[in-house]
Amino acid sequence: MSILRVENLKAHYVTRKHRKVTRVLAVDGVSFQINKNEIYGIAGESGCGKSTLLKAVSGLIKPPLEVVEGQVQYQFDDRDLDLLTLRGEQERREIRGVRISHIPQGSMSVLNPVRRIRKSFEDIIGAHLGIKDKREFEDMVRKHIEALGLDWNVMHSFPHQLSGGMRQRITIALATILRPDVIFADEPTTALDVVVQRGVVQLIKTIKKEQQNTLVIVTHDLAIHANLCDRLAIMYAGKIVEEADAEALFADPKHPYTEMLLDSLPIVGDRTTRESAPGAPPSLVHPPSGCRFHPRCPQAMERCKLEAPNLIEVEIGHRVACFLQEGIVDENVQEFDAR
Ligand SMILES: Nc1ncnc2c1ncn2[C@@H]1O[C@H](COP(=O)(O)OP(=O)(O)OP(=O)(O)O)[C@@H](O)[C@H]1O
Ligand code: SF4
Ligand SMILES: [Mg+2]
Repeated sequence: MSILRVENLKAHYVTRKHRKVTRVLAVDGVSFQINKNEIYGIAGESGCGKSTLLKAVSGLIKPPLEVVEGQVQYQFDDRDLDLLTLRGEQERREIRGVRISHIPQGSMSVLNPVRRIRKSFEDIIGAHLGIKDKREFEDMVRKHIEALGLDWNVMHSFPHQLSGGMRQRITIALATILRPDVIFADEPTTALDVVVQRGVVQLIKTIKKEQQNTLVIVTHDLAIHANLCDRLAIMYAGKIVEEADAEALFADPKHPYTEMLLDSLPIVGDRTTRESAPGAPPSLVHPPSGCRFHPRCPQAMERCKLEAPNLIEVEIGHRVACFLQEGIVDENVQEFDAR
């Protein structure tokens, strides 16, 4: 059962200077759905639109970001919600933290440096649940943070007294204290060393298991996706170019860009240096014509410069946007996604 359906979403950064309008096509026609209780990963090189996509689907839409087209529909147990028709910031704020929680990129630094950690918990709980009673507040927070393996004493600390890993754990604890239905985590392990990263991934798994929520995680680290995700989407230049069960995607990547990304992954025990994906992602102000990947694609054909491939289901649950996949659609697949 799906909890989120996104249809043809276009979210652009629009800036105006001296009557000149610049439009960054950061998310440009993205459709996908997230199943209840799954862990859905989003990967792709820097600048491909991962953070913008998370912002748009969690309702963090403020200038210069504009949603110019598309639909973002949630199906919670007790109600359906059309995110893009919510009226104003007040309604969106009521949803955020309670139904949808967004852990932003670089969130370790969002904790207020001059306030003790306890204050941040008081703010979020006070704002949403209106708990004023000290005992009730402490019980709730203690239960939550101890379930996450954190010590109550961190409540009395200022952010700068904690390590980066601990700050990230606190940020995640804060984002999940209200047991949201869907958690969006944007690069939650970036900037942490490998051992600490493992701890943060474990923490995310613990929360997911305990709260039974749905998790959407963005990271460019494919090893984390392999470890954590049920399904995975690969983005390139504002679009999803491939989506499949994580296992299938790693075992049998079908888009040339996914192959390129996987080829750049280090292999355990292999000491030769691996090349990062050759070439660079394109500008999203003037993206390439046709298939946006064509200037870097080793298999590009004449047609690829002229036409954009649709994202089609080529095997059950495996969608790919590449002309090379045309005509080899699995006979069991009947659905055809026109984007
Ligand atoms: N406030 C903004 N104004 C204009 N352009 C922006 C803004 N924020 C992001 N962009 C552009 O939108 C595109 C997508 O950015 P986004 O941050 O979504 O990428 P990303 O995939 O999350 O990258 P990273 O892996 O570096 O976090 C990029 O070209 C970026 O330069
Ligand atoms: S459509 Fe063409 S350019 Fe794009 S990935 Fe496929 S072969 Fe390469
Ligand atoms: Mg980002």
